[in-house]
Amino acid sequence: MTFLHLNSHADRLRGAELKTLARRRLAGPRLSAAGWTLDTSRQFLDADAERALVAHAESAGLTEAIADLFNASEVNVSEGRAALHWALRGNRANMPAAASVAQSVQVALALSGALRSGETTGATGKAFRAVVHIGIGGSDFGPRLVADAFADGGAAAIELRFCANLDPLDLDLALQGLDPETTLVVGISKSFGTEETLFNLSRARRWLQNSLGSGWAEHQVLVTARPDRARDWASQEGVVILDLPETVGGRFSIWSAGSLACMIWLGEDVFRAFLAGAADMDAHVQHGALSANLAVRLALLDVWNTSVMGFQARAVLAYSRRLRMLPTYLQQLEMESNGKSVTASGDAVSGATAPLLWGGEGTIGQHSYHQWLHQGTQIVPTEFILAPGSRSDAEGVVGLSAHALAQAEVLANGRSLHDVQASEPDLPPQIAAQKVHPGGRPSTLLLAERLTPERLGALIALYEHRTYLAGRLWGLNSFDQWGVEAGKSMAGLIKPALRGDQPADDAVTADLVKLLRHQAVGG
Ligand code: F6P
Repeated sequence: MTFLHLNSHADRLRGAELKTLARRRLAGPRLSAAGWTLDTSRQFLDADAERALVAHAESAGLTEAIADLFNASEVNVSEGRAALHWALRGNRANMPAAASVAQSVQVALALSGALRSGETTGATGKAFRAVVHIGIGGSDFGPRLVADAFADGGAAAIELRFCANLDPLDLDLALQGLDPETTLVVGISKSFGTEETLFNLSRARRWLQNSLGSGWAEHQVLVTARPDRARDWASQEGVVILDLPETVGGRFSIWSAGSLACMIWLGEDVFRAFLAGAADMDAHVQHGALSANLAVRLALLDVWNTSVMGFQARAVLAYSRRLRMLPTYLQQLEMESNGKSVTASGDAVSGATAPLLWGGEGTIGQHSYHQWLHQGTQIVPTEFILAPGSRSDAEGVVGLSAHALAQAEVLANGRSLHDVQASEPDLPPQIAAQKVHPGGRPSTLLLAERLTPERLGALIALYEHRTYLAGRLWGLNSFDQWGVEAGKSMAGLIKPALRGDQPADDAVTADLVKLLRHQAVGG
């Protein structure tokens, strides 16, 4: 997939003053859907470039790509599967494959209600007072994001803990102070083959068994696409095993039974609202005209900024305390989906694909990396997401909003030496020069009145569709992740070297193994 025909637009716009471009585009369409408003006026675009991008979307078959997704076609071509994450949040009874996926969430929601109410108890008849979620990657980031976003609504009588890392401290902390008799362990692993998760599940099982013996099984739920492996691991009856459908990618599974711990902690109503918001955005993406489709416009912008304009990173700045974990979540969603250099058909890509995605919480980042964003030597497009977590104090909302708007304005418009000297005429010239802001730094704004479960659902669904459509524009399969396998299998070869059982192959690694072994023996 080449974008050479767009280069003439980039050549025209690259040297243009962003402030002027933005003012001209003010009259342009500001798109809204599912409670979100998208403003892209501060991007290196004009009407001609936007028309060319929409025409590219049409010729690249994005209309067909959207239909493929919602018709349960095999969009995951390397694994020969459909991608049915959208079915988790909206019943598609008319499509059997989608209906069974939708049912898997309903089963989890029903179980969560029974666990939360105390109707279902542990082996000693006591209600559960703590839930420990064990999983990693797509089996961790999503539930952690939802739990953190709505922590003020968590059940007072239930403590929710997370564990993902192999570092023993992670599970130590997750179990610290908990009573096995009132603790439920929820293990999430689509493959049921992930080393970190199996290690932590086995440690947690020993912790339960020490107090409960064979009763441990009534304190364990497993969510997986491989019930066969889960049953082998459990090796006894009593463990509840829920379905995480094969057709739902790990990084697209926040909607699934994999979020059982969140469902228990936050309650069904919150989670159903989360699902409803996503379904709302699905309807927009599935039926909206390409030019008015938020996911299409954002996917085109990703291709434009990365593959045409040459910006190799994007910073997501979440001006919302409830979204402070969103950049971390999006790193896996976007970079594991589209951080690829070979197309779905096995050809080398013809240019840049997914950018480095990083970011953080606003206004917090203004006291950290915004110096770099404003005056650093690299231009990184920023993506402001302004959605107050609460409107309990009008002044706080005004301040949060003012800072988001101000940062975007200064990034785009800069501050000339003339401006600096006019406002501070007595500045020594070497200081005045250091106060200049180059400007010309593009940004996007996504705006919602408040961050509610519905808005979070809609936002994450938007990013899922944006990621899939950008992947199609780059010619990639956004639903596999072959690049994570080599590192994992290499670790399996290095562990015996660290135990002293056999030498590591690579000379540097072998030397470092020697250092670590020396360290381990207190050398
Ligand atoms: O990072 C590789 C990966 O397979 C992710 O795609 C996935 O979300 C994570 O590991 C955990 O996989 P599982 O849910 O199978 O344990």
